[in-house]
This record gives sequence, structure tokens and C-alpha cells, in this order.
Amino acid sequence: MNPDNPGLLAAFLERQARVSLLRFLTCGSVDDGKSTLIGRLLYDTKLIFDDQLARLERDSERRGTGEGIDFSLLLDGLEAEREQGITIDVAWRFFTTERRRFIVADTPGHEQYTRNMATGASQCDLAVVLVDARHGVVVQTLRHTLIAALMGIGSIVLAVNKIDLVDFSEARFREIEAAFRDATGRHRFRDVTVIPLSARHGDNVTARGARMPWYAGPTLLEHLETVEVAPPAEGADFRMQVQRVDRLDGVRLYEGTVASGTIRPGARVQISGSGAMATLARIVTMDGDLAETRAGDAVTLTLAEQVDISRGDVISDAEAPVAVADQFAAEIVWLAEASLLAGRAYLLKFGARTVAGSVSRLRYRLDVNSGAHLEAETLAMNEVGMANIALDAPVAFAPFAENRALGGFIVIDRLSNATLGVGMIRHALRRATNVKWQEFEVDRAARSALLRQKPAVVWFTGLSGAGKSAIASATQRLLHAEGRATYVLDGDNVRHGLNRDLGFTETDRVENIRRAAEVAGLMADAGLIVLVSFISPYRSDRALARERTATAGLAFVEVFVDTPIEECRRRDAKGLYARADRGEIANFTGVSAPYEAPERAELALATMREDVASLAARVVADLRGRGCLG
Ligand code: ADX
Repeated sequence: MNPDNPGLLAAFLERQARVSLLRFLTCGSVDDGKSTLIGRLLYDTKLIFDDQLARLERDSERRGTGEGIDFSLLLDGLEAEREQGITIDVAWRFFTTERRRFIVADTPGHEQYTRNMATGASQCDLAVVLVDARHGVVVQTLRHTLIAALMGIGSIVLAVNKIDLVDFSEARFREIEAAFRDATGRHRFRDVTVIPLSARHGDNVTARGARMPWYAGPTLLEHLETVEVAPPAEGADFRMQVQRVDRLDGVRLYEGTVASGTIRPGARVQISGSGAMATLARIVTMDGDLAETRAGDAVTLTLAEQVDISRGDVISDAEAPVAVADQFAAEIVWLAEASLLAGRAYLLKFGARTVAGSVSRLRYRLDVNSGAHLEAETLAMNEVGMANIALDAPVAFAPFAENRALGGFIVIDRLSNATLGVGMIRHALRRATNVKWQEFEVDRAARSALLRQKPAVVWFTGLSGAGKSAIASATQRLLHAEGRATYVLDGDNVRHGLNRDLGFTETDRVENIRRAAEVAGLMADAGLIVLVSFISPYRSDRALARERTATAGLAFVEVFVDTPIEECRRRDAKGLYARADRGEIANFTGVSAPYEAPERAELALATMREDVASLAARVVADLRGRGCLG
């Protein structure tokens, strides 16, 4: 199509408006033929541009397989183009036939595939799951189908590819179909269609294959053109998350995509953040004002009254406002190399809203083959489970099954910002609304005034034997001498009581630090200057301690007790390094478990260069500088 030809452009746009849209994605293991299939679809629907086609023919010849065009080269070429630019997880490709418009998520393969698939799946109506007819249904097939089901995809196509390599055998096809239906029946898809095809040779992709007279069903393209797509959530109540707040001529504009329902100017709306009410004034779009909104519309709303709205708030119908909670049960698909750990602090992103939070309990892991609930401590990469989630602040939500936009979230690493997993909210936990924070008349300010000090949490971190306890002890002595109320919270001591159930696995250390941070916070709330002395080897757990303390309005001072491991070994007061070296202690920090040194600690104390007394004096000076010692 030549965009400079207005007549053609008009005809094209007109056709676009009349045909419906199907978003789909393809999934499969690396060699199942995903790229070849998408390439073949684009080629057969004539959506490849001439220059690309010429290059494709040239490249195929050069490869010299002697089998004509290699369609996977087309996608490889596009992928290479993409790699030169910014890296994105999913590229959307468009093609059109007389009967429908298509958007296909082209998710690059290899290890990160599940992650990209999950990202694409959340926006798709249908998934084409590919299997190699020689291998049949494999674990990856079931995993991708499970994820598709969790992500709310209603229609599945099982594409039994490379059917030519099993001599177009009907028996083999029926065997694979039965195995697939048997293993995935529990997912309750609206539609499951199984098609034998050869992406390479084109049989049953867009044209019927003469070599499979036994197959009476549709070709892949016929099916994609006619399969029914679930209607958008029109009947549901109106909800829109604000993605952007703008101001024009003194009027505030709230931009977003309607997640569900319809609404008209004049209707009363509620704002999720503050609970404030307002009247909808206008629905503005690129093509003028609308009389009402529909799900999926990208719109700009204006309100009759001035109310406080920020990015991430949800505007909803005041008669049926959106639910708000800070604790949920949610399914999680874990996508990162490092396992999910209960208690570890992550960021959770709900559309335009990002909130800190953690998994308070992993309820179970799903067995991909049987759907059974297995007891689990962590979720490894590509595993799926059900978790209780606790957020630091409430968010507006809807169960994922009712609304994908308001029920889905992604889990993000706090330090690297990498995507670690995707989640689907099942329901809010009742606890969230039943437990309230109790205020008392004598408050922290009153307690600190009595003690004539500003409470603080001083967090000493470092290897075993680095000198944390010695410096904490000397610091406490100095503070005590000048009449300050203090307490040393020591790892070894706390492990005698409160944390006696915890060992030294990563999971247990996360919980060890979480509890230490909570107790330190309470003690500081009581007015004390709390000196915490824990190895606390993981950055993200120390970040959690910092965050908890900071959001409670308390001072937090991270002190890195910096002693090289050789020196800790040399001192080895408890004889633990020697035992760890002999393999008698598992997960020993610095030997068989990691220590992540702080990057931006408030204080770094080099114990090789200064003695304990002067290092302690530096800690006290720091507290004085912060106004803690009045
Ligand atoms: S933390 O890593 O979870 O923060 P914590 O400070 O509570 O550790 O406890 C560390 C103390 O436990 C060490 O000083 C040491 O005496 C003892 N210990 C026993 N086993 C280990 C181990 N595997 N790794 C580190 N310390 C251990």
C-alpha cells in the first residue's frame, strides 16, 4: 500500500473499520517452527514487502537447503533489525485479510521465551501452541498452555507442525490430539482446535493440504478468521486507570484506557486514591468529544470539580466503585533466574501504579503436568504458583478473571528494575480490611521527647567475624555514657528465640531480616536508638529494612562493616570458617553463600585501618549530625 495515495489509503482504512480484530501469539519450544509459521502466514497473506521478499529468496538460496524459501529467515531478519534498536520483549506484527485484522505477538525465542510469552499473552485473545509431530506434547507445551489459561486466553490452537516428517500420519495426529486434550481439559478454554500442518511446506496454513485427505477441519488461517473472540467487558461497571495527568488552559485532563464499562458526561465518579467523588464533565478523544465511553477506548476525561487525582488512580462509577486492598491471593508465573522468595521485597506494577510489596506466603506450586498443588518454599524460573501478597500501600483492583487490565501485575526487581514475574489477582484477602492500625495517645513524639533523643535504626552489615557486634557494642557504650536509651539487636541472640525456627538458606535469611527489621522498627517506635547487628548478606533485604524504617518516619543508618574475608578467616573467633571449609556448615556466608556488599551505605567502616573505638566514635558522630542526639 502506498501511503501517499489518498484513494488507496481511504479504501484501506474503510476496510480496517469493518473487519474485526484478533490478537494472537504463537508458543512452542525452540525448534517447533514458530518463526516459520509466522513467516508463512505473512508471506501467504502477501504482507511481505517486495524488498524483503527479494532478500528472503536470496538468503534461502544461499543457505542451499534446496527446498525453496526458508520462512524462518524472514523473522530472523526482523529480529536482527530489532536487536540493533532498543530491546523490547514483544514486537507486534500486523496483517489483514478480507475477513479480519490480525495482530500477532512475535516473541523472540530461547531462554527468555516464557517471559516474553507471558508479556504478550496478557493482551491476546488466542494462542497457537506448536508441537513438533515427531515429539508430540512435551512439558513446555503444557507450561505454555497453562500460562495461556492463567492469562485469560480463551482460545487455543494446537498446531501439530512438521506433519510431513511423520508421513502425514492420521494415527500420530490423533494420538497427539488425545494427549493434549487429556492434559489440558481442566483449563476450560472456550475453544480448543487441533490442526495438522506443515509450516515449511504450507499444508493447512492458508491452503488445504492435499496430502491429508483424512483431515476435514479448517486451515489455520480459516480458523483464525472465524474463531469467535470474547467481547470486551462492556456490561461491567466503568473503570479507568489514569495513565497521565495533564493540564490545558487551567483544566485538568485525565488520560487512560477504559478497562471496563461505559459512562456518560454528567455521571458521578469516584477516585480510588482519595475516595473523593466528582462529576464527569467531558470525554475527549482525537476525533472530538464522545457521548459515552466503551471498554478499550483511549480517552481523556475532564471533571466538573477540582479533586486530587494522581497517575495510577482508578476512576470508577460512583455507584459501583472499584475495590481497593493491600493484600491479595494471586497466581504468579516466575520468569527470573533467581527464585522467588517469600518475604523478599519486590516492586509490583499495576498498570501505571508501582507499589513495594512482598509474598507473605507461598501457598503452593502448580504441577504443570497434573495441575496438582505442591508444597513449595520458592518458585524457580518458569514455575507457577499461588501466593499471598502484601503491599505497602493499597491499590485499586479487580480479579483478573473479570478484568485483565485491573487484575494483572508484574513483579520487578527493586535494584535492577528487571521483570521477575507476572501475577494475576484472584481475590483480596479478608485480613486486608479487617485489621487496622491502632493509634494511642502517648505516641512516638511523646516518647522521644521524654527520652530527649530522636529514635533511629543503625543497621550494621558485614561478614561473620567482620566486627559488627564489637563496633555495635562500643557504640552502645558511648551512647549509654551520655545518657541515651539504646538496644543492640544481635543476629546470634535473636536466633536463640524469635528466630530459632530459621536456618541459613536464602529463604530463611530473608525471613530472618524481615523479622529483625520489624522488631527494630517497633523498638525505635518505642523511642530507642536501635543498633542492629546481622550479617544481612542480601541487598534487597537490607533495602526492605530501610524502606520499612523510612516509611515509618524513622532514621535509618546503614553501616557497612568492611573487613576482607581473609581477615575474618584469620580471626575466626568462633572457628566457623574452619568448619565451613571442611564442609561441616552449609551455606556459610563468604564460603558457600554470597555476601552482597552495600553500594551506598551511609557509613563504611574499614576495620583494617581504624580501631573499634574510633569507628564507634564515627557512628556516634553520624547520629549527632542527624540530630538524633538532640
Ligand atoms: S543472617 O545472614 O541471617 O543475617 P545472622 O546475622 O542472623 O545471619 O547470623 C549469623 C551468625 O550465625 C554468624 O555470626 C554465625 O555465628 C552463625 N552462623 C551459623 N551458620 C552460619 C552460616 N551458614 N552462615 C553465616 N553465619 C552462620
